[in-house]
Amino acid sequence: MRASGCTRQAIREQFRLQARRRLEDGARVIIAIDGPAASGKGTIARRLAAHYRLPHLDTGLLYRATAASLLQADKDIHDVEAAVAAARGLGLTEFDEDTLRGAKMGEAASVVAAMPGVREALLETQRAFAARPGGAVLDGRDIGTVVAPRADVKIFVTASAPARAQRRALELAQRGQRADYDALLADILKRDARDSGRSTAPLRAAEDAVQLDTTHLGVEAAVAEAERIVEAARVGA
Ligand code: DC
Repeated sequence: MRASGCTRQAIREQFRLQARRRLEDGARVIIAIDGPAASGKGTIARRLAAHYRLPHLDTGLLYRATAASLLQADKDIHDVEAAVAAARGLGLTEFDEDTLRGAKMGEAASVVAAMPGVREALLETQRAFAARPGGAVLDGRDIGTVVAPRADVKIFVTASAPARAQRRALELAQRGQRADYDALLADILKRDARDSGRSTAPLRAAEDAVQLDTTHLGVEAAVAEAERIVEAARVGA
């Protein structure tokens, strides 16, 4: 049965009131941060976690580790059976974080993340993290929509594709690596299309998420805005 617009609004208002009560009580608080690659969601999530003293899970790392596990075993990244087995077996293998965070693994992660079996295999771990007694901050693509649809605060972080490519180019240059802006932009657009176009848990803002566009914001301004959004949820603004 589909809820009417009116009912949906009433349900949203109920969730908002419940969330506000939890924030006021200092009880378990779940903050869901979603957004496309290089939007700044990871930095915002880390900073909010530090500010509110909450544990943080970068869920992209689970998909990156799944891809790394496949590649390490010399399997084809498109092999669904092997990818699901890799996702189920995570935790048995350790990966170097620099390797996981590289562009190659981001692209491979996006491929395995489109497989429903892989997403299902990783869902419980993420939900268990969100259900920690003291609350948590999680960032990814489907936190507000699938992993923690009842999160107390949902922020959907965006930025224009050129701004995101520029950021990636700057990060690489700062590490002394060669940065090809056009290639970075093409990679970002390709990843956006795959992450948003897949049938299971596509990248999209939850209906009750607050949008935060970081295109023209530096790190400090973006974090300050995210904190303002959390505080607004605290007072029910
Ligand atoms: O956030 P990231 O760049 O580390 O994520 C890598 C890929 O993993 C991303 O392109 C899509 C996938 N991913 C996902 O589908 N769902 C998540 N919650 C997190 C990441």
